[in-house]
Amino acid sequence: MALWGGRFSQETDQLMARFSSSIDVDQKLWQADIRGSSAHVRMLVSQKILTAADGDKILAGLNEIAEEIRSGAWTFNPAAEDVHGEIERRLFEKIGEPAKRMHMARSRNDQVSTATRIYLNEKLNGLMTDIRELQKTLVALAEVHTHSLLPGMTHLQHAQPVSLAHHLLAYFWMLQRDYDRLADSRPRIMTLPLGSAALAGTGFPIDRQKVAAELGFENVAANSLDAVSDRDFVVEFLANGSLIAMHLSRFCEELILWSTPEFGFVELSDAVTTGSSIMPQKKNPDGAELIRGRTGRVYGALIGALTMMKGLPLSYNRDMQEDKIHLFAALETLEPSLKLMNLMLQSAEWKTERMAAAVSGDFSNATDLADDLAAKGMSFRQAHEVVGELVKFCLKQNLKLEDLTVAQLKKHNSLFDQVSQQKLAHTQVLKARKSEGGTAPDAVLVQIARAKAVIG
Ligand code: ARG
Repeated sequence: MALWGGRFSQETDQLMARFSSSIDVDQKLWQADIRGSSAHVRMLVSQKILTAADGDKILAGLNEIAEEIRSGAWTFNPAAEDVHGEIERRLFEKIGEPAKRMHMARSRNDQVSTATRIYLNEKLNGLMTDIRELQKTLVALAEVHTHSLLPGMTHLQHAQPVSLAHHLLAYFWMLQRDYDRLADSRPRIMTLPLGSAALAGTGFPIDRQKVAAELGFENVAANSLDAVSDRDFVVEFLANGSLIAMHLSRFCEELILWSTPEFGFVELSDAVTTGSSIMPQKKNPDGAELIRGRTGRVYGALIGALTMMKGLPLSYNRDMQEDKIHLFAALETLEPSLKLMNLMLQSAEWKTERMAAAVSGDFSNATDLADDLAAKGMSFRQAHEVVGELVKFCLKQNLKLEDLTVAQLKKHNSLFDQVSQQKLAHTQVLKARKSEGGTAPDAVLVQIARAKAVIG
């Protein structure tokens, strides 16, 4: 039963029917659809657009359908056009005539957008919880590793030592921005299109505020044309999701690098790695690689949705049906990625001795020596030059900067003294960076307190 048979005298071609069907994708919206329809029907009754008797039959029928779907007693016809039409068809099977009154004062155009928003809003809660869980893991690890030395890099070259805590907390703050962006997007997701009908509103005396309140929407869309043709909330979510995916991907890249024997900074647990069918010795970071690789799915969804919307005239166009393919692809990628990332971090073994050994003799203390000269009155540019010469000398002699004696230092410049020498220990280098947001253990403790305050 099509929803629009009247003016047609020919059946839809099978090819067209299959081409336009979206039920394989949009059946995920069944609960959201039933919630939206129920709120709509209650409003129609309270506005006396629908009789209480019909309203009761429809509501009871929708409840039963929800039960049937949950228990598997009834399944969607895979050949149906979409989940909205299919639920209405089932309602007619169950309660007959009154089912045909449910669609008064609405259209699938406002119905589908409403259901998608309800669905996404709930998914947002799950994602935000997953982000919080990951952040808690990062804070817990940071608390253990405020003194664990790690080569801090720029250009993937040793730059200045940082603590493992500081490095992990960098991801905490990226995730915090992700969390905030999702929270910020909520009022735009929770703007109610229902009641806009096909595109222009309706002549029935509906009460959209009532529907919004019942469904937990924060606003009612102000313009019916915009309401049925707005998919900004999908694009915005996909952009926010792309940033989450990008952050996870960068983190995974580091875990992959760090778990190579060349780095050896971390060992990922057996639970999140795989072996090789031919090389018995192998332990591969497939989990991290897949999170990194699936970033492409999320970016692809964003570009797909943006391209779908580009050039669409007002108001609803069938192109928009594709929004759910992109939205669900991103959600189905992000949800397990966040969870797996958490598991990888919780179960990882951090090789702090290897990290500290990598820092030794890496000249990442050179800036501190230049700072020492600058503090004693030499211009920083000149100090840079002096220390650069010293590094060259050490490289030639195969010496570590921190192993130079005070006498050797003095030979290069008379301003050097005992204090300069002491500043070269990497633990000292770490401790020195105590500016707000710096890597010194004291500063990182402040940062941890701030992180904890944020996640509550
Ligand atoms: N399945 C459609 C979608 O997701 C529902 C809206 C259909 N509206 C229409 N005018 N054909 O967009």
